[in-house]
Amino acid sequence: MKSRIVTLPGDGIGPEVTAEAVRVLEAIAKHKGHSFSFAEYPLGGCSIEKHGVALTEETLSACKAADAVLLGAVGGPKWDNPTAPVRPEQGLLAIRKGLGLYANLRPVRSHPALLDSSPVKAEILEGVDLLVVRELTGGLYFGEPKGRFEENGRTRAVDTMEYYDYEVERILNLAFCLAKSRRKKVTSVDKANVLETSRLWRQIATELGKGNPDVSLEHMLVDTASMRLITSPANFDVIVTENTFGDILTDEASVLAGSMGLLPSASLGEGGPGLFEPIHGSAPDIAGRGIANPIGSILSAALLLRYGLRLEQEASAVEAAVDKAISDGLRTTDLGGGLTTREMAQAVIDRLV
Ligand code: NAD
Ligand code: IPM
Ligand code: MN
Repeated sequence: MKSRIVTLPGDGIGPEVTAEAVRVLEAIAKHKGHSFSFAEYPLGGCSIEKHGVALTEETLSACKAADAVLLGAVGGPKWDNPTAPVRPEQGLLAIRKGLGLYANLRPVRSHPALLDSSPVKAEILEGVDLLVVRELTGGLYFGEPKGRFEENGRTRAVDTMEYYDYEVERILNLAFCLAKSRRKKVTSVDKANVLETSRLWRQIATELGKGNPDVSLEHMLVDTASMRLITSPANFDVIVTENTFGDILTDEASVLAGSMGLLPSASLGEGGPGLFEPIHGSAPDIAGRGIANPIGSILSAALLLRYGLRLEQEASAVEAAVDKAISDGLRTTDLGGGLTTREMAQAVIDRLV
């Protein structure tokens, strides 16, 4: 198979981990006789430096024309001024919107060899295998009005949480669909006791639940969910939730896996290329030292193979190699080991079969 992959390494550790995920993709292509081409484009802070904007038309059209997009991370202290007119994160949001990527899949598993890497007790982590389906192009991130307004000598800042029924329906439908090939349980997370968007969400979830009698549906308030994620994470199968809640709950869920550096994600839309990226950011505190954990990016490459290129065998092979490397005790510093980014990726490549 011939595929065109666009890479958007971004800022901070983004380029460090993306380079290693690309090496893994090249290795699996060689093993299985595929031909992948890679074209790199700027996004985020590096694009601001070069072009004055976080996402150029050129980058967006290259992504649209690709078979799949592999992203590193954007942002950093250099661009953190809260009053700056352009910010790296705008590029990320614009590319998600521009590619229509409304669904962000964030799988979380506890690896038996990493149970002691988490501050959560090992007995609680056993059997954790959950999938967060995060709505990605709606809610507080995109609702209007949004902005700062000068009124009567005061500054007012506004964000709007907004959802249309069709946006809620399509993400919930996907969650039900994904649950059918898993343990057939959906937890719909909302804040229906306070938010109107959540009451619409819960109403639609209830209706769709009736049409999916083979899947058990539960509703959970987001504050409770954040607690249950730590006290009884193994009870979750598919968690479906709106944009902001999903962002926050998945950083929390990374603690179950053992490190922020381990979690991958797939952002999917209706047709068009998917975008694959680790859930972590640019990690300015460790950037430039070659010590970032590349596993989140490598597992995102596995999701790229599975959902982006429909290469299930190749995706499973990469995941198995990662599992094996971890079982064999290979660790970057975030997990208490001493391997560099490159050495960790090499350990995965060496275990590809
Ligand atoms: P972060 O995810 O970058 O880092 C949080 C902590 O996790 C840090 O201590 C970091 O060292 C550690 N960490 C993250 N990834 C790691 C890895 N692969 N290996 C080892 N340790 C890792 O979050 P932050 O520091 O709050 O944000 C930094 C910047 O990244 C901000 O500008 C933020 O907006 C941006 N950000 C971007 C994305 C993205 O591009 N998808 C995601 C989250 C945050
Ligand atoms: C993520 C990040 C982004 C988000 C930021 C950087 C815009 O935190 O991908 O999880 O909030 O979606
Ligand atoms: Mn996040």
